[in-house]
Amino acid sequence: MLLELRGVISGYGNLDILHGVDMEVDNGEIVCIIGPNGAGKSTVLKTIFGLLKPKGGTIFFAGEQIKGIDPHRLIRKGISFVPQDKNVFLSLTVEENLAMGAYTRPNMVEKGKELVFSRFPSLYDRRDIRACYLSGGERKLLAIGIALMLEPSLLLLDEPSMGLSPKYKKALFDKITEINQGGIPILIVEQNAYKALKISHRGYVLDMGKNKFQGESGELLVNSQIKKLYLGG
Ligand SMILES: Nc1ncnc2c1ncn2[C@@H]1O[C@H](COP(=O)(O)OP(=O)(O)OP(=O)(O)O)[C@@H](O)[C@H]1O
Ligand SMILES: [Mg+2]
Repeated sequence: MLLELRGVISGYGNLDILHGVDMEVDNGEIVCIIGPNGAGKSTVLKTIFGLLKPKGGTIFFAGEQIKGIDPHRLIRKGISFVPQDKNVFLSLTVEENLAMGAYTRPNMVEKGKELVFSRFPSLYDRRDIRACYLSGGERKLLAIGIALMLEPSLLLLDEPSMGLSPKYKKALFDKITEINQGGIPILIVEQNAYKALKISHRGYVLDMGKNKFQGESGELLVNSQIKKLYLGG
């Protein structure tokens, strides 16, 4: 298993939000986390990425315990995180934003940019434009591009489709599938539960900080309880 969470307890200050969460991501997979607002989905990603220090449980990445390790060290170990918002530098150009994604390893900047531009040609066309002038969809691509600069071995995505028009949503989900097929395992949190299950191999339903359901995405999609509770009937 590439990533393995066991009994993770985490939250903010004295407030526990995750009450013993178990989760796994294997090489090759897209795994989604769905569930209602406030369920703790973003808290899971922030805890994996070391932004929150868990009070209990274990987190293994590539066979190594990573619980409590700082984000900059996790980036070096191959984990990239695209937060729900504030995920680009608005005053910098597209190209400068991408360079920020590799600031810890300046010798990777050129290769990383080539890789990202080949995957997202629309970003290449806008490379000299400041991020504040990009559309919402382009900004999302840029945020993912920044996270791809160091060729991560695990990509954590928080609500990538939030705020996008249906056309951009489809394009974005297609890109996510392509990135995964290019060899990068992905753990994705999504409001759009139906679409998330459609593009992922396995899924977890998180509710009130606990595992509620889990399984192959195809099975979760046809589960009548999940349909009723989380997929809008
Ligand atoms: N910085 C914070 N300080 C204190 N409580 C927080 C903080 N961030 C989130 N919470 C609380 O933690 C709980 C879980 O939040 P989290 O953001 O993980 O939920 P989520 O499942 O990602 O929800 P959403 O679908 O709305 O993004 C919520 O009750 C939220 O109010
Ligand atoms: Mg969230």
